[in-house]
Amino acid sequence: MSEDHPVEKLDKMQAEKELIRLNEILDRANSDYYSNDAPILSDAEYDTLKKRNLDIESRFPNLKLKNSVSDKIGSKPSSTFKKIKHTVKMLSLANGFDEQDIIDFDQRVKKILGFEDRVISYVAEPKIDGLSLSLKYIDGKLFQATTRGDGEVGENVTENAITIQNIPKYIHNAPSILEIRGEVYMSLNDFNELNIKQKNIDAKIFSNPRNAAAGSLRQLDSKVTASRPLKFYAYAWGEVSTPISDTQYNAIDRLRKFGFSTNDLTKKCYGPKELISHYDNISNKRADLGYDIDGVVYKVDNLSYQDRLGFRSTTPRWAIAHKFPAEIAQTWLESIEIQVGRTGALSPVARLKPVNVGGVIVSNATLHNEDYIKGKDSKGNIIRGGNDIREGDWVYVYRAGDVIPKISDVDVSKRISTSKPYTFPSFCPECSSPSERIEGDSVARCIGGITCPAQAVQGLAHFVSRGAFDIDGLGNKQIEQFYQLGWVKEPADIFKLKLRYENGIKRLENRDGWGQKSANNLFNAIESKRTIPLNKMLYALGIRHVGETSATLLSKHYKSFDNLKKSMNEAKSLEGSSWSDLMSIDGVGEILAKAVVQIFNNPAQRQIIDNLVEELVIENEIENIVSGSPLEGMVVVFTGSLELMTRSEAKISAEKFGAKVSGSVSKKTDLVVSGPGAGSKEKKAIELGVKVLSESEWLKLINLNNLSDAK
Ligand code: IVH
Repeated sequence: MSEDHPVEKLDKMQAEKELIRLNEILDRANSDYYSNDAPILSDAEYDTLKKRNLDIESRFPNLKLKNSVSDKIGSKPSSTFKKIKHTVKMLSLANGFDEQDIIDFDQRVKKILGFEDRVISYVAEPKIDGLSLSLKYIDGKLFQATTRGDGEVGENVTENAITIQNIPKYIHNAPSILEIRGEVYMSLNDFNELNIKQKNIDAKIFSNPRNAAAGSLRQLDSKVTASRPLKFYAYAWGEVSTPISDTQYNAIDRLRKFGFSTNDLTKKCYGPKELISHYDNISNKRADLGYDIDGVVYKVDNLSYQDRLGFRSTTPRWAIAHKFPAEIAQTWLESIEIQVGRTGALSPVARLKPVNVGGVIVSNATLHNEDYIKGKDSKGNIIRGGNDIREGDWVYVYRAGDVIPKISDVDVSKRISTSKPYTFPSFCPECSSPSERIEGDSVARCIGGITCPAQAVQGLAHFVSRGAFDIDGLGNKQIEQFYQLGWVKEPADIFKLKLRYENGIKRLENRDGWGQKSANNLFNAIESKRTIPLNKMLYALGIRHVGETSATLLSKHYKSFDNLKKSMNEAKSLEGSSWSDLMSIDGVGEILAKAVVQIFNNPAQRQIIDNLVEELVIENEIENIVSGSPLEGMVVVFTGSLELMTRSEAKISAEKFGAKVSGSVSKKTDLVVSGPGAGSKEKKAIELGVKVLSESEWLKLINLNNLSDAK
């Protein structure tokens, strides 16, 4: 599915498939972005995908995956620094992309607060493109600095943060506990100078200031950080022993008085019109600021309103980031190459004259499939005005949508008269098997299956990749080598490697990069993965449509491999109770379900799975017991005209404590909160013996967070 396919036009099955795909890309991008300082997606494309995911989820709320990326903030922190749990979570921001998104944001705020007729005051400030940092001061002394990590647990980078010059080490007249949050960044001049220095000493060149800042802060040797020109802007706070202000604007002023740098373009704005005009003002200044920003952040000014608005799982309802649009660049398409994927898909890739797109050098772009090259989307609709894409064309490239950059358009005016339309190959370029394109599928596939070396090697590479078996020392290169040698043809062979080829590997010594030590390390790494959680094992199998997210869904549902295997055998005919049971999993649709059942019932594939299982100890899924609020999992119904809170506030308050809000009373209802004028719902609740509370009783209950007398 391409991102060009509008969300409004997706049917349920497509939406389901798309959610799974988006969650996988975003999950992968998250760990790359936060852990590797070398992102696979630019911020703009990440935002586009995240928004698409949210849009699909809001159109099809029932299809939302249980561990959707919308509920996660970042990725797990890298393992090299000491972990610190944030006392107050470090949140992310929801994004808006156009004026309507900002008008909608203002409307939502007003609706929740019940202030439909009032003008809300906001604070607008540049969204600095760096990485967030939390600084904890105890009795005025800088005590600890922590990166955001996944929002709940970050990395202790205190030694490094101390080296940043404009971070105060002591502050006067501060609350005894004061946690200041803001952005670490690098100015454009400093970034360019740093890269020149790096080049001179043959060291890593950073692709943009954000990566340079992240790479510089997350150094194990604080001397390296000290040598890097990092700066800090303060814009928020976490744990405080006494409140620092009653408005956002005054809070920023206070941060400045504490000695922090705050951004001069911070402005109080009344209503969305003023916000947008400040956005335009900042956009006009963007090129001359001397540091990268990627949008403007709007925050409700009144802190008691912020409190009432509260949070969604990872973002505050009282703020939004108004993002700048994605960048586009023009370049020359040198050639079109066909790559053969793990599932045999023949994917055309554009080899481009390298070009800088939003700070990242791009030299490849996806061309999706045959139709896309011809100027049609997967539904047969005309795209790019029907213009095809040819080798030798000038094309527009953008990084807003996928791991690989995309081509938005082709400049036909620059096309030379001798250029010819591209002919899509009817044979696999790797194994020469014919390719086939099943009706209704936009992708042509090599029919060679595991006999196609490209498919086999990619399948094995996937098997050992991060998220799957993640075997240290066994990357694409080694897999390719062992495959060529005939040592590893299927996953089980990896676990037989030592027994069968130990001496062989030793003989590879000093050739092809293998020595005794690396071979031993490899065998140890393989051994350490013989025991594997069920979800990772399922993901590693590389079943079509089963990514990390859906593998986890399956694992959580079936709990053990034996149980899963038994159910898949029983579901062979795609009907009956085991099939319905599989289809009942929230987040599992027919396409995915079929793929799983089919792989378990295909004799050749099944043999490969059985061979593998013989080598492994597969850990069963252990139920996560959530020790949360006593309202967790309860179904609450609000009825009547509520007087002490707006309906949105009521819903938010219930969800905050883990309850589900339903519109109708049934046997499943645990609590009914009833305001004046309540009618049939209250009556039904009484008939069913469901506990009914008044509004004030409800407020008392959630304040006490104690349900002992409610049930
Ligand atoms: S406020 C509870 N203000 O943007 C809200 N964030 O996309 C906390 N950022 O994680 C964030 N400039 O790293 C806020 N003026 C600003 C910001 C800003 C940059 C970053 C920050 C945050 C990310 C969310």
